Amino acid sequence: MPEDVPRVTLRRRVFELIDHGSTDLPSRLVDGFLIALIVVNVVATVLDSVPDLATRYEAAYSALELVSVGIFTAEYLLRLWCAPEHVLHGRLGAWRSRFAAATRPSLLIDLAAIAPVYVALLTPLDLRVLLVLRLLRFLKLARYSPGLATLIEAIVAERRALGACVVILLGGVLFAASLMHYAEADAQPDKFGTIPDAMYWAFITLTTVGYGDVVPVTPLGKAIASLSAMLGIVSLALPVGILASTFAEEIRRRDFVVTMTMVAKVPLFAELSASEIGAIMRHLQARTVEPGEAIVRKGEPATAMFFITGGNAEVDLGARTVRLGPGDFFGEMGLLAKRPRNATVFAATPMRLLALEGDDLRYLMSQTPKMAAQIQRVAERRAEAAGSG
Ligand code: CMP
Repeated sequence: MPEDVPRVTLRRRVFELIDHGSTDLPSRLVDGFLIALIVVNVVATVLDSVPDLATRYEAAYSALELVSVGIFTAEYLLRLWCAPEHVLHGRLGAWRSRFAAATRPSLLIDLAAIAPVYVALLTPLDLRVLLVLRLLRFLKLARYSPGLATLIEAIVAERRALGACVVILLGGVLFAASLMHYAEADAQPDKFGTIPDAMYWAFITLTTVGYGDVVPVTPLGKAIASLSAMLGIVSLALPVGILASTFAEEIRRRDFVVTMTMVAKVPLFAELSASEIGAIMRHLQARTVEPGEAIVRKGEPATAMFFITGGNAEVDLGARTVRLGPGDFFGEMGLLAKRPRNATVFAATPMRLLALEGDDLRYLMSQTPKMAAQIQRVAERRAEAAGSG
């Protein structure tokens, strides 16, 4: 229907504006505004719990709350409305894609950030509870923070190892509590009289917190407590180490969050399905580059190729330079021919790149022949240009 056309374009434009994957100025301003609003909200909520400040600035708090809820609600509704534009929902109908978007973590967090206010309007909700629930708005920052998003990814990636650590800790708690119950039940029946009672002590000791409100008094109890404390350090060091190394590795790999929209904007990936794009995302590493920086140097061994998602690059071919922009890629020739780089590529402006390592490229090319053929074609054309130039 022709009358549908302007609406779709408007929806697309709104999507680009509020989607975090877009890097143009207006959408960066929208991101910046929303981040500032979230931070102001969180700070105001914390200060609102100080009685003096709460009474002095009551009117300002109410105004801020009203405006924020209005903006966050509009943001939530707009995200739902634009959901069909997301690559993830490319093949779903409008309403099914909105439903799919509504059940994804990011929109569930957005809903949790505003829902308590509406619930409070309908039912008498304790004001303290409302205050604490308002802090859920902090989680909205996960959309913009590579660190927070990476931490969540690290936890998800290491879920099996972390699960094993929890099992070890629970086992330790169970043994320590049973032994302490055996050693201390007679001396302190109120604290170690049952295994569940003793478990409180075991948790506080094994997690190395050690409040000191429940302590062993018998020699056997003290010996068990010493061993438990040592076991606690070992079983806690394990998950901390796992998480810290995965987190550090991930954070070193990426300068910004790679979103599906960002990947889908590279024409080469445009025809792939959402699940194929999802698979590729796992292999792409995000990089920002300053103007003038050489991204690949002529003669160096080729280890990765690059997709441009923002800014411009210049390929120095000696006699002439070729300018590449968003959606273009480079560094494929060295990888495909297993030869050193045949040109130096500089960043002409601040750039955002997605890097794909050689092994990952070969794997992806074997999985998606159509994409493989396209990359080959571009590399051959460039090689011909070099030959004739
Ligand atoms: P590679 O040889 O790995 O590193 C330098 C890159 O410059 C090369 O891959 C190509 O991606 C790119 N390149 C080489 N020649 C041209 C050209 N004529 N036009 C555009 N890009 C080129």
